[in-house]
Amino acid sequence: MLSAKVEKALNDQVALEVYSSDIYLSMGSWCETQKLENSAKFFYRHFGAEREHMMKLMTYVNREGGHALVPKIPAPPSEFKSLEAAFEMALDNEKKVTKSIGKIVELSLETKDYGTFTFLQWYVAEQQEEEGYFQSIVDKIKMIGIKDTRGLFFADKAIGKLLLVPEPGKK
Ligand code: FEO
Repeated sequence: MLSAKVEKALNDQVALEVYSSDIYLSMGSWCETQKLENSAKFFYRHFGAEREHMMKLMTYVNREGGHALVPKIPAPPSEFKSLEAAFEMALDNEKKVTKSIGKIVELSLETKDYGTFTFLQWYVAEQQEEEGYFQSIVDKIKMIGIKDTRGLFFADKAIGKLLLVPEPGKK
């Protein structure tokens, strides 16, 4: 049985996962409008991963006697300054999610909720991989140095290569 405090923290995390999925959906849509087809597919794929993170949390909360709530969250941005800016925003978002997971891990220890502590280990590992994943993309984009449409074309092509292999957590 979850304590009210842990249940609330897990529901807040559900909201963060929903926001993450929404922001990647929005980035994918924006990329499509910019004719960045590979980047659009990349973000749409990651949108699906975030929905799975959300669902896993909701199932856990309900299974442990709590009530998983569908959150009301603000709409994500719909415009992005550049492809690089979108990926930097994605990286910042992942850092925020990592921090939030860390806080719930701490809370689970403080409240001696070892079941939730164990459940969260999957998220700890997943976040470590995802942060590294987005950091490597930001680094690659910086290396390519997008100065014109040609640079943009090569960056989108490089992102396309990532679609050939599974995302973190799916290997
Ligand atoms: Fe579910 Fe990318 O954090």
